[in-house]
Amino acid sequence: MNKEHVAELLYQALETEKGGIEVYETALKCVVNAELKKEWEEYLEQTRSHERIVLETMEAMGLDPAKETPGREVVRHIGESLVEAMEMALEGDTPEAAQLVACECLVEAETKDHLNWELIHQVAEKATGKDREALKAAYEQVEEQEDEHLYHTTGWCRELWLESLGLPAVLPPPEEEKEVKTAIGAARAKMARKKML
Ligand SMILES: [Fe+2]
Ligand SMILES: [Fe+2]
Repeated sequence: MNKEHVAELLYQALETEKGGIEVYETALKCVVNAELKKEWEEYLEQTRSHERIVLETMEAMGLDPAKETPGREVVRHIGESLVEAMEMALEGDTPEAAQLVACECLVEAETKDHLNWELIHQVAEKATGKDREALKAAYEQVEEQEDEHLYHTTGWCRELWLESLGLPAVLPPPEEEKEVKTAIGAARAKMARKKML
């Protein structure tokens, strides 16, 4: 394995979680649906604990969390841009439209977050010794939550958009109801939504 790139993955993961906290804090200013608000409050708390878990993992692996890399700068820039996009919507659009923007921003943020943890899991499988233990302990606490963050938020985004188009929507989304935690589960939930209308 490329040790330098494994370190880079962790720097990007840290930056994703840090940015994620701000993305959720701003999304919570945009949210209208009470049930979705509750969910995002929970995901914000989980994101805060993910940041702590990445920091602990870096410490166990002897990585300096303050080290800057060009890759993590890009991740930070994307996070800040997502916050800015939601602020634009908050200023100039209806609350429902701002909520849709927030949903889309979260799907983007969570896509990167989900990828990071999927990769951390794969790295852990191949790692040895102390690194393996640290990475395994980390993904075991986080990976399932990231599945929920991505698949459930994607479901909310689609259904709230459908509702805004005046088309039949399933709310809360089937991904939520079926407690989807895998890509195949998300595909099944999406297929089954027609029967739920
Ligand atoms: Fe996370
Ligand atoms: Fe997440």
